[in-house]
Amino acid sequence: MKTIKQSWAEPYKIKMVELLKMTTEAQRKKAMKEAGYNTFLLRSEDVYIDLLTDSGTSAMSDRQWAGMMLGDEAYAGSRNFYHLEEVVREVYGYKYLIPTHQGRGAENILSKILIKKGDIIPGNMYFTTTRLHQELAGGKFEDVIIDEAHDPENEFPFKGNIDLYKLEKLIKKHGAKKIPYVSMATSVNMAGGQPISMKNLKELRSLTKKHGILVIHDMTRVAENAYFIQQKEKGYAGKTIKAIVKEICSLTDGATMSAKKDALVNIGGFLAVNDWNIYEEARNMVVVYEGLHTYGGLAGRDMEAMAIGIGESVCDDHIRARIGQVIYLGEKMMEYEVPIVKPIGGHGIFVDAKKFLPHIPQENYPAQTLAAEMYLDSGVRTMERGVVSAGRKANGENYFPKLELVRFTIPRRVYTQAHMDVIAESAARVYERRRSIKGLQMIYEPKYLRFFQAKFEKL
Ligand code: F0G
Repeated sequence: MKTIKQSWAEPYKIKMVELLKMTTEAQRKKAMKEAGYNTFLLRSEDVYIDLLTDSGTSAMSDRQWAGMMLGDEAYAGSRNFYHLEEVVREVYGYKYLIPTHQGRGAENILSKILIKKGDIIPGNMYFTTTRLHQELAGGKFEDVIIDEAHDPENEFPFKGNIDLYKLEKLIKKHGAKKIPYVSMATSVNMAGGQPISMKNLKELRSLTKKHGILVIHDMTRVAENAYFIQQKEKGYAGKTIKAIVKEICSLTDGATMSAKKDALVNIGGFLAVNDWNIYEEARNMVVVYEGLHTYGGLAGRDMEAMAIGIGESVCDDHIRARIGQVIYLGEKMMEYEVPIVKPIGGHGIFVDAKKFLPHIPQENYPAQTLAAEMYLDSGVRTMERGVVSAGRKANGENYFPKLELVRFTIPRRVYTQAHMDVIAESAARVYERRRSIKGLQMIYEPKYLRFFQAKFEKL
């Protein structure tokens, strides 16, 4: 007899729906041309299934919406701030909380406090805004992720791991005094949402402790990372996501958070630290860039929704369904032989554009091209994560990253399994006609984070 599969399913039902506009091919052609072949410049109403990002695009629960009504919109000392502080302490274990309008607000403040000109910041692969704030503060980012992370085909389960040998070499070369902290991300975004293992984190902790270097945690997708530890790391199968999340945080000194991802809100973030002195400086600096330290650029209602969202984000049933959906899409794409980054990560499917469009050189932006073609085919909006996102070095030269990817990012609790089928089928159709696809040239390039606003033309 055939063994019966144990399927995941959503631990919620749908109470309200948002109607979508279905577009014709002619409409999409016009919209894509006007957007300069940059999916960031499309109008959202022209998009059918929006996989641009999982950031701020998730669906809040009825409990979160109810929480919005409990917003205490006082300028100072809002009740919701204290609730959020309590939740951050309980769920993540960090002592001091500074709310910010989103993740990069926290990155700005932290970089300004900890980085001096000429400092080196090692990390497990760069993230666009994180690295830019480190550079603007006078530091230089050095990638110390394991080599496996740069190989889309390598199936190592913890491709977010730090290569401790690379890190030690950097410490030897520059001296620990030049390294204020290691910038450690859980669920490494640019590598394809790849997790770091607890074992690697513990080893990182003991190495950095020896040298008096801090570990700062980009905890944007920490619950998703915890799921992979639970599923794949020895000794964690019986632990809850909540326990694993807390253990991860306990191995770090502080964190920046974009609550627009894991924490299930449309806006918000924070900086959380254990050291009083760093907290004191951050509390002082936040009033310059964000707002008073008890709201940091957020409304009281936003902080309430975040506090409730954090609680929901570390529930085992939630995360199993969340990542279950991502894996469902990835496996469907593999059935159609679409080349994707393996293993499948936590927040989306990353298509290998170099393999998908091998006839387009990196100078003609294969991932940017493929993202545009996906939209033209079905109105599915995806995002380039390759040479355009990587930008230029301080000396003006382009970074040419090994990974040239298109990210199909899945918002949490938003789309159905049928949507996943439509997406995979569209990717398969584009793959079928891949040889007829031509590359792009850039006709407008902004100075910072160019991928957001650059414009292109078909070759
Ligand atoms: N760190 C990581 C790992 C992120 O993915 C992001 C944002 C940030 C920091 C910055 O946070 O947007 O709230 O200021 N990632 C979004 C994305 C933009 O689409 O991946 P933010």
